[in-house]
Amino acid sequence: MSLKTLHSLRALPPWMPRAKLLRNRINNRDVSVPTGIFINNEFRSSLSGSKFSVENPATGQPILEIEEGREEDVNMAVEAARKAFEGSEWANSNPVWRGELLNRLAQLMERDKEDIIALEMLDTGKTRKQAANLDFPGSVGTLKYYAGWADKVLGLTSFNIPGTFAYTRREPVGVCGQIIPWNFPLLMFIWKISPAIATGNTVVIKSAEATPLTALKCCELIKEAGFPAGVVNLVSGFGKTVGNAIANHMDVDKVAFTGSTATGRTILKSAASSNLKKVTLELGGKSPNIIFPDADIQKAVEWSAWGINMNFGQTCHAGTRIYVHEDVYDEFVAAYTKRMASLKVGDNFDESVDQGPQNSKMQYEKILGYIESGKQDGATISLGGKVAEVEGADGKGYYIQPTIFTNVKPDMKIMREEIFGPVVCIAKFKTEEEVLRDANDTTYGLAAAVHTKDYERVLRITNGLKAGTTWVNMYNFVHWSVPFGGYKQSGIGRECGEAALENYTETKAVYYNTGIPAPQ
Ligand code: NAI
Ligand code: MG
Repeated sequence: MSLKTLHSLRALPPWMPRAKLLRNRINNRDVSVPTGIFINNEFRSSLSGSKFSVENPATGQPILEIEEGREEDVNMAVEAARKAFEGSEWANSNPVWRGELLNRLAQLMERDKEDIIALEMLDTGKTRKQAANLDFPGSVGTLKYYAGWADKVLGLTSFNIPGTFAYTRREPVGVCGQIIPWNFPLLMFIWKISPAIATGNTVVIKSAEATPLTALKCCELIKEAGFPAGVVNLVSGFGKTVGNAIANHMDVDKVAFTGSTATGRTILKSAASSNLKKVTLELGGKSPNIIFPDADIQKAVEWSAWGINMNFGQTCHAGTRIYVHEDVYDEFVAAYTKRMASLKVGDNFDESVDQGPQNSKMQYEKILGYIESGKQDGATISLGGKVAEVEGADGKGYYIQPTIFTNVKPDMKIMREEIFGPVVCIAKFKTEEEVLRDANDTTYGLAAAVHTKDYERVLRITNGLKAGTTWVNMYNFVHWSVPFGGYKQSGIGRECGEAALENYTETKAVYYNTGIPAPQ
């Protein structure tokens, strides 16, 4: 299958509601996508008339142009979201119906599954394995899970105070701004909107500028599913304009963000200096993955390879720092290097490929910069370390070889900073105390893993790790029903599970007088 035929583009029309993109080989259908800004259930052109280009990272070529939102579009979207939030249809909505809307969206996504997967692959460079086996079912599962929660968010009652009873109501927060990244565009869109809608909020969401397509497709399905106008609004565009306008808006009640720690910090400042909107942040990581000598080494090799190969390292919880006990260091490194070397890098539409292009030129250059810094700091490249040559790509896509650094020192940049690519560092350790200290020696705290068969050690290590998610004998496994989020500078708050409902509800306490006289 050649890159050229698969990614050949039709001539793009001037702005129109939809643009046809590609013929999907899976179901032999044309895949198309709306290109406008989605406000009040309508796709419209941006108020400034500006557009921006969306690129296919497998070829470095533009796919199409879409409408580019700015501050004035955000204002319009917030107005629509506020009106919908206060309108009686949504304000008094039966939670069962909100659950039905989420379920209907899940069903429509299942109907258009192959189109959504193809769009996600085209826009991000993901393999089908990643998009179809993980991101898509994760998205649909999340929708159905929060559909089930919609009518189960209850308050508490207290009859323990003489002369009064008190109860709490869980009320929606209001208009929720949501800003999502490019590494999981579909999944993050769904992770963000599902708990917000289940609990009766309205949403203004911004997709990442590098990967806006599946969010546009989902908005079309949101309308078809029967969501009232203004409940979900999408403004495509850039962080400095659209993202900044959402974070600073005086009429946005809450902002939920996933992305870099640097941008998370900016958003927190914006919230503080505007209306003190509530903030939840899911940020970066530099997660440790610890291998003890009593582990099943072959299984540990497999999970550790997946720890970096999932989404080609562009995963906030990627296992980028592997610590191997000295007794099995040589054995592990040899088997791991062999496993990583067996990963096939290439065109992401080729089903035999394990690793497609990195998401964008910016990320590609950033990763190559880190590889260079590792070399200069004196770490040893045990595998890769170069641009990957891919047949048919004519040197144009953003392909990087799976890369392993050994002889890495704790203070090297590659050991401290988030690389967000197929690059892993391996270090050796002797004792539990030493490895716990090194594993926790990071400003991040998103995830961590331990591989061992000793159940007492499992408890010592998992208790000692400062990370929001800790895996035992596995890596990179996240389920929508279990809370996800970070310690330290990896974030504030938890998404997924019941925990996310906290983010989208205010608790109101009501005291009901049953016989207390006013104090004199
Ligand atoms: P970013 O954090 O700048 O982008 C994430 C989202 O925030 C995008 O939608 C972007 O448009 C928006 N944004 C950017 N600046 C903003 C601002 N001032 N106000 C409001 N929104 C803003 O991340 P970027 O630049 O795409 O990637 C840089 C690095 O961040 C990556 O190499 C990776 O290390 C990390 N990252 C981590 C992610 C995670 O899942 N934790 C996801 C994406 C990136
Ligand atoms: Mg793209």
